[in-house]
Amino acid sequence: MSIEVSKIVQGVEPSATLAMSAKAKELKAQGETVYDLSVGEPDFNTPKHICDAAVAAMQAGHTRYTVASGIQELKAAICDDYQARFGLAYKPSQVVVSNGAKHSLHNAFFATLNPGDEVILPAPCWVSYAELIKLCGATPVIVSTSEEDSFKLTPEAFRAAITPKTRMLMLCNPSNPTGSCYTREELIELAKIVVDRDLFVVSDEIYDRLVYDSAPYSSFPTLMEGLYDRTIVVNGVSKTYAMTGWRIGWLLAPENVAKGIASLQSQQTSNPCSISQYAALAALKGDQECVAAMLKEFEKRRDYVMSRIEAIPGMSAPKTGGAFYAFFNIQNFLGMSYDGVQVDTDTDWCLELLKQKKVATVMGSSFSAPGYARASFAASIDTLKVAFDRIEEFVAIK
Ligand SMILES: Cc1ncc(COP(=O)(O)O)c(C=O)c1O
Repeated sequence: MSIEVSKIVQGVEPSATLAMSAKAKELKAQGETVYDLSVGEPDFNTPKHICDAAVAAMQAGHTRYTVASGIQELKAAICDDYQARFGLAYKPSQVVVSNGAKHSLHNAFFATLNPGDEVILPAPCWVSYAELIKLCGATPVIVSTSEEDSFKLTPEAFRAAITPKTRMLMLCNPSNPTGSCYTREELIELAKIVVDRDLFVVSDEIYDRLVYDSAPYSSFPTLMEGLYDRTIVVNGVSKTYAMTGWRIGWLLAPENVAKGIASLQSQQTSNPCSISQYAALAALKGDQECVAAMLKEFEKRRDYVMSRIEAIPGMSAPKTGGAFYAFFNIQNFLGMSYDGVQVDTDTDWCLELLKQKKVATVMGSSFSAPGYARASFAASIDTLKVAFDRIEEFVAIK
């Protein structure tokens, strides 16, 4: 008898962004120069003082199991950060530190959703939400947003999607993949519905410090009375401090939820890497100048990418307000032949762009938004320049 993969796992789609990155890496391994705009991670190295803290942690013997939900100092630092930036009072017992924000999201869903529950998921949405929700036996209800609305969920669309089974709104702000960033006023309109319809929210705020044009950022529980007890905030060090490989994320939740998640994690993975936790502590407690410097560079690239997209006749994208992605409309470039190859869908377009021009992007359909593509600008201006020159050439020959 051969081993069969379970029905639950059979239903899980592999991550399209990782798949596209893998394809780009495969080409690179064959000796090709690839202009990789598919990745969702900063191209900067982790700042030195953070790496130094990890070395010091190892040398000090912090190489053993920690409390499953994370070391007390890190949890306290996370609480201090939320108090300082948003005036939100959390206790360390409300924090669970995990193996990256993706793990925190899985924990949040697993600990709160029951089979049959519906989760409202505004699309375009990050690739993992729907799959993680399905793993819990719950149903993602994809609610499409429009380019005209800068891909933000409108109160009307939110209300219309609510059924008696709706339990949760999954919000990502700033958004991966669209880079859209809600204003406080827009969020308040959604929050009113959350409270009115007795829902709860998982608010993925992993890009909260990568917001452009000096725009203010509002963490979801700050919007109005009653949200603190209805919101699980997810965050981490991966994007802000260029620490994707260290695998540290966390969630802040009402005490009973955090307690349940801590128990879950104690059985499932135990603590996240002890050394990485000390590195994350140094990131939060150390000089924040490194974040400001990366933000400045990202903003320069955002402006550059927006200008390149704007300059291509027939292509469009709403202005990225946060994170490091441009989500551009390629509908005018489908249904035609590219060097003899018929390209009808966004997937064909991205694959052919990679094959013919060695530029890696990610197809919109993997974010539940066919007809679009995502380009990450976590790449140097030099790389972005060549990549967009090639995109321009690719669509110009039509
Ligand atoms: C919106 C969003 N949430 C969560 C994550 C996961 O972050 P981590 O690397 O900390 O697991 C990502 C990473 O791509 C992301 O884009």
